[in-house]
Amino acid sequence: MNAEKLAQPHLLKQPIYVTGKPIAYTAREFGLNPNEIDKLASNENPFGPSPKGLAAAQEALKEINLYPDGGCYDLISKISEFRNVRREQIVVGNGSNELLDMIAQVFLGPGTEAIMGNHGFAVYKLATLAMNATPVEVEMPAPGFNYNLDAMRNAVNEKTRIIFLANPNNPTGTELKAQEILDFAESLPEHVILVIDEAYTEFIEADAPNMLPLIEKGRPIICCRTFSKIYGLAGLRVGYAISRPDIIGLIHRVREPFNVNSIAQVAANAAIEDQGFVEKVRGNNIQGLTQLKNGFEALGLPYIPSRANFIVVFGIQAPLEAFDFLQRKGTIVRPQPQMGQALRVTVGTAAQNDRFLANLKAYLETKKA
Ligand SMILES: Cc1ncc(COP(=O)(O)O)c(C=O)c1O
Repeated sequence: MNAEKLAQPHLLKQPIYVTGKPIAYTAREFGLNPNEIDKLASNENPFGPSPKGLAAAQEALKEINLYPDGGCYDLISKISEFRNVRREQIVVGNGSNELLDMIAQVFLGPGTEAIMGNHGFAVYKLATLAMNATPVEVEMPAPGFNYNLDAMRNAVNEKTRIIFLANPNNPTGTELKAQEILDFAESLPEHVILVIDEAYTEFIEADAPNMLPLIEKGRPIICCRTFSKIYGLAGLRVGYAISRPDIIGLIHRVREPFNVNSIAQVAANAAIEDQGFVEKVRGNNIQGLTQLKNGFEALGLPYIPSRANFIVVFGIQAPLEAFDFLQRKGTIVRPQPQMGQALRVTVGTAAQNDRFLANLKAYLETKKA
């Protein structure tokens, strides 16, 4: 029998997330040397993993015959100390992506709705559709492409269970003022869980809203963070959420027993101790953004101001064609045709940014010829 007849009908329409293209794949496809390819497509850390995280991971390899600690005891203790929250307010995930999925599993189902921006992180919609719930995509209007919090609040009704908000947001790189987010959170009815996705928050740390006092006051807010970006541990898959203990308790009910592998647990624990590395990455990112913005201005290309580790550039007539041209030259970026003539590029090292700008210039010249 055709397996589709057996599947849950709503899953037949479920889109599949397309990931940034891996280096090895591009190298094979175009006969390039993998060492000459710059992957600036998935907002990874161009400076490698946190050295302390890497050392801890190498050490932990010796014990991979054992299951990991299913309760992530040591990592939760470290996060609790670092963020000054109680252990029962924390759950760790196989990447923050898994946390988003688990949150959807707990709070969404047929007849419920989740509100998100129409240029929000793609997983919000996928997680919602996977639960056979309805995604309500609120327009993030051009040219700024930022969230419209008033429109999002107006979209709330009695079926709403979750609002997904990333700050800064991916792919747009836009951010909201801390006070706007705090006011928004306080204005929501109690049956709506506000998920603040803080995947890129460390890049803007001082200007990000502190949601913890509102959580302490009992507001239904979940803050998700990841070790994939500023800590450089994307390949290990580890992130965490902070919320009210009752909400965290519900997420544990759908959590797989050993969802976070042992290498990830110790590496994330050690990476938290590596705030010197975090500072260095943050500083380099600011320089890299300036380099890219100057480059775009020299090429006459508009862009969305960003302080995250990626930026959207416009004026790329055919984003998919540009993506193809650039990858043949060894730079993998992320086309954003849904935002118009746009590409998203991750901030790389100074040399990677230079190569990208040179390749982009070469592409634009093919259009003039
Ligand atoms: C806004 C946002 N949230 C969450 C994630 C998921 O990150 P991870 O699963 O690696 O923690 C990403 C990854 O790119 C992201 O951009």
